[in-house]
Amino acid sequence: MATAGQDNYFLPRHKDESNRLNFQHKFLVDICGGSTIHESIPKDNLTAIADVATGTGVWIQDVKSILTARDPEKARKYYAFDISDAQFPDPAAQDGIVFALHDGRQPFPEEFHNQFDLVHVRLLVSGLKTPEYKQVVDNLVPLLKPGGYLQWEDLSMESFINYEGAQEFADHPCMDTMKLICEVQINAGAPANVPQTIYEAAKSNSDLTDVVLNVYNTKDHPDKTEIVRQWILKTFDSLLSSILLRTGMVATEEECKKEREKRKEHLLDSYQKGYVPHGSLGMVLGRKVQK
Ligand SMILES: C[S@@+](CC[C@H](N)C(=O)[O-])C[C@H]1O[C@@H](n2cnc3c(N)ncnc32)[C@H](O)[C@@H]1O
Repeated sequence: MATAGQDNYFLPRHKDESNRLNFQHKFLVDICGGSTIHESIPKDNLTAIADVATGTGVWIQDVKSILTARDPEKARKYYAFDISDAQFPDPAAQDGIVFALHDGRQPFPEEFHNQFDLVHVRLLVSGLKTPEYKQVVDNLVPLLKPGGYLQWEDLSMESFINYEGAQEFADHPCMDTMKLICEVQINAGAPANVPQTIYEAAKSNSDLTDVVLNVYNTKDHPDKTEIVRQWILKTFDSLLSSILLRTGMVATEEECKKEREKRKEHLLDSYQKGYVPHGSLGMVLGRKVQK
């Protein structure tokens, strides 16, 4: 396993975590308007696409199959960057996508500048401190061809604590864990509202135009209540596996396992009593100016 730099990442990178990322992909697309590439982005002219903080590459693999189905003959190039290669597919399964190590907080090599029609990012929420969002946006824009699109989906941590239906469950023990997960990351320098932070960073970049922030609430999808619960249960457990040890709340893996089980039981108990852990995702879209 190799890395391109020291990260602040709060999630593990083992096989179960890769399965979790793959499991949540379709759900996230459905919540964020139902289209892997936002409907405002014309698909026919996309010949070079980059996915930054790609994880397992699940988003770019989906994009490759969508674009190939539209026009199988068209030559296209696909790049997937991440600070760690721990979750990249095996080389035999990379399927023509170039997977490469890169820390998004660092400028990309010039060979990648002005190369891409679409640059995508999703879920750096547990990986960056507030000022680093601007650094990453400013490093992504040079990758775009003039007229190329930026699309970045991310999660607002505070929305999961503040959504109005959560008040009824304020005294449930699971809410302490929800707050702990947010507070530990915020205390480590993360913003409470990541999409808003990305939006402000994109607005302040003079090479980007048509910058918008679309906000999507899980509560607007009542048919997805059970999958929202599953999603939060898995994410909650994954984050706890590092947060409990990192904060010194537990000292050993064994204690960590017990504490996670206890906190998962609290969450499942609140689910039984009607709690649905709703929150919001935001998608920031922008376009590189044509000079
Ligand atoms: C929650 S995963 C999301 C993966 C993928 N975008 C998806 O939606 O399935 C976040 C990814 O960001 C990567 N990451 C964290 N800090 C990074 C950085 N500074 N530069 C590039 N990637 C980073 C992590 O290694 C991880 O693969």
